[in-house]
Amino acid sequence: MEVVPLESTDAIGVLAADAIEALVRRRPDAVLGLATGSSPLSAYGELVRRHRDGTGPSYDEVRCFTLDEYVGLPPGHPQTYRETILAELTDDLGIARDRVGSPDPTPGTLATAGERYESALAAAGGVDLQVLGIGSDGHLAFNEPGSSLTSLTRIKTLTDVTRRDNARFFGSLEDVPRHVLTQGLGTIGRAGHLLVVASGEAKAQAVADAVEGPVTATCPASVLQLHRHATLLLDPGAASRLVRRDHYREVFAGKPDWQGL
Ligand code: GLP
Repeated sequence: MEVVPLESTDAIGVLAADAIEALVRRRPDAVLGLATGSSPLSAYGELVRRHRDGTGPSYDEVRCFTLDEYVGLPPGHPQTYRETILAELTDDLGIARDRVGSPDPTPGTLATAGERYESALAAAGGVDLQVLGIGSDGHLAFNEPGSSLTSLTRIKTLTDVTRRDNARFFGSLEDVPRHVLTQGLGTIGRAGHLLVVASGEAKAQAVADAVEGPVTATCPASVLQLHRHATLLLDPGAASRLVRRDHYREVFAGKPDWQGL
C-alpha cells in the first residue's frame, strides 16, 4: 500500500487527476471505476477543469463503471449514484452515457442484479483504475462492517452510521434508502489499481484502522492491505491518526519521478 499524506484536498485532486490522466493517455480505452460521495470531488473537478481547458486527454474510448447504487429510488432521481456520476464527471468529460455502467436497481430484478453487473465488468475486461472513498465506519463502496472480504456485487443493508452520514444529500434521514447494490470487496480487489481518497478528521480512525490495523471484515477498507497496487491520498485530517505518518511522507518525498502513482 502506498500512503501519501498531502497538505490539502486540492493536492489530493491534482495527484488523483494526474494518475487518471496518465492511465488514459497510456491506454485510451481504459476502464475506470468511479466512486460517488464527497471524497473524489476535488479529483473530478480537476479532471473536468483540465478537459475544458484542453490540456486533458480524450475520453472518447474510455468506459466507466460505478461502484454502487441505492435501491428504491425512482430512475433518474438526482441522488441515484448513476445520475450523480453523470452530473459530476462523465457528462462533462464527454463520455457517452452508454459507456457508463451501473448496478441495476430495477424492482423485481434484484435477484440477478449482482450477477449481471459482474458479467458486465468481466465483458469490459475488468476495471483498470478504481477510485474509492472510505466511509466513516470503514466501508468501501457500500460494503459495511462484517462484509465478506471476498464478496461480489450484491444487495446490502446500510448501517445507521452510513444512513446518517448520507442524510445530508436527502431531505431527511427517513428519505435515505435502507438497501443498496454494491460491488463486493472481492469485485473491487480485481481492479488493477485502487486509488483511495480521504479528507477530514471524520475519516481519521477508519483510515488508521484500514492502514495500520489488522485485516478484518470489521473494517472493510482493511482489505486494501491485500491489494498489490493500492494508493491512499490523504489530507492532514484524514492522516491525523496514522502512527507512521512521517515515514509515509518521507517515502513519498524520496520517490523517483519515473515511478508514478
Ligand atoms: C458512500 C459511498 C462510498 C463513499 C463513502 C464515503 O456512502 N457508497 O462509495 O466512498 O460513502 O463518502 P464521502 O466521500 O461522501 O465521505
